[in-house]
Amino acid sequence: MPPDGDHRYFTSTAVFLNEVIKLAVSLSLAMYETSTTLAPSTPATVLFEQIYNGVFSSDGWFLAGPAALYTLQNLLQYVAVGNLDPVHFQVLYQVKILTTAVFSVILLRRQLGLKGWISLIILTVGVCIVSLPSSEKAAESFLLHGVPDHFFPRSKHELGQTVAGASIPEPALHLSKRSATYEGIAKDMPPNDPIMNFSVGVSAVLISAVVSGLAGVYFEKLLKESSTNASLWMRNVQLSFYSLIAAFLGGCIYQDGAGIREHGFFEGYNKVVWAAIILQAAGGLLASLVIRDADNIVKNFATSISIIISFVFSVWIFNLAVTTSFLIGTSLVLLATYIYSVPERKLHRPPAMRIVS
Ligand code: C5P
Repeated sequence: MPPDGDHRYFTSTAVFLNEVIKLAVSLSLAMYETSTTLAPSTPATVLFEQIYNGVFSSDGWFLAGPAALYTLQNLLQYVAVGNLDPVHFQVLYQVKILTTAVFSVILLRRQLGLKGWISLIILTVGVCIVSLPSSEKAAESFLLHGVPDHFFPRSKHELGQTVAGASIPEPALHLSKRSATYEGIAKDMPPNDPIMNFSVGVSAVLISAVVSGLAGVYFEKLLKESSTNASLWMRNVQLSFYSLIAAFLGGCIYQDGAGIREHGFFEGYNKVVWAAIILQAAGGLLASLVIRDADNIVKNFATSISIIISFVFSVWIFNLAVTTSFLIGTSLVLLATYIYSVPERKLHRPPAMRIVS
């Protein structure tokens, strides 16, 4: 064990604070939204009553579903990162692009057509190829030293004691969406020898990809097809409310309760941890805006492009080399985005105009 005062942060506290920030922002925006529908002289108690009724409206508890799914997705990602190297994690997690499309067809009766499916397959292949070079350093570091220690915020020995490392930080934070952060931190990490189980890791990341698709589409369905017509911010308040309960009971009490009691809630916090929590919360709120104004499939295009952008930043900040596979992967992602967004008729050559004299 590291000496007292030299502990890493508890990830359950970070997940909890992430939900607190999302709840605070969503509640403020929901209150602002509601206040614009009331007369200026309306007492504040009426506003609070309206918000309370909105949050606990008849179908408000439906959001417990996506909240539980997102919590499960988080937990599975920690298990996956604890048992897989970053490259396998990043590549396999892209299956979520296809699972999201399948759930959109089943639950939202969305018609994708051949053009849609082809573009999604190209996108999945492209983002997998892009993920390989961006994780090369990580893979190298993994082969030499094992999984970087920052995946084990407390102690790698806890991995065997908790559910395969449920205290590993949000992988999306360091890997799929923010590989630049990962590359930056990984360099400074000491070697270690964690217990890894490849098949557990593969199963966890694949189930996590399925849960990601289901959670996102479930949230979208409640947002767009519910009869109560609750606004996005009201839905986000409901989602954060139930996620907060899950994060507190499951994470801060059950998973890390003993450690938090011994070392304190904010043990190991520094500016980087706070920045990561704030970025994660901002990312979640932006994802919900994209789901409202577009949909989950478009959100996956956006996150794929964000992986490319984060690699470009890694090239700039960490002097990573631009590889051929990165260029091929990026071209495929851009091609997929073009095919998906261009109207069907534009893909076919228009018939030649006949000039009748
Ligand atoms: O990997 P994936 O695309 O499924 O991640 C979506 C992220 O967006 C999750 O971390 C989820 O917690 C977040 N989200 C959110 N609020 C929503 C919808 C999604 O914070 N309303």
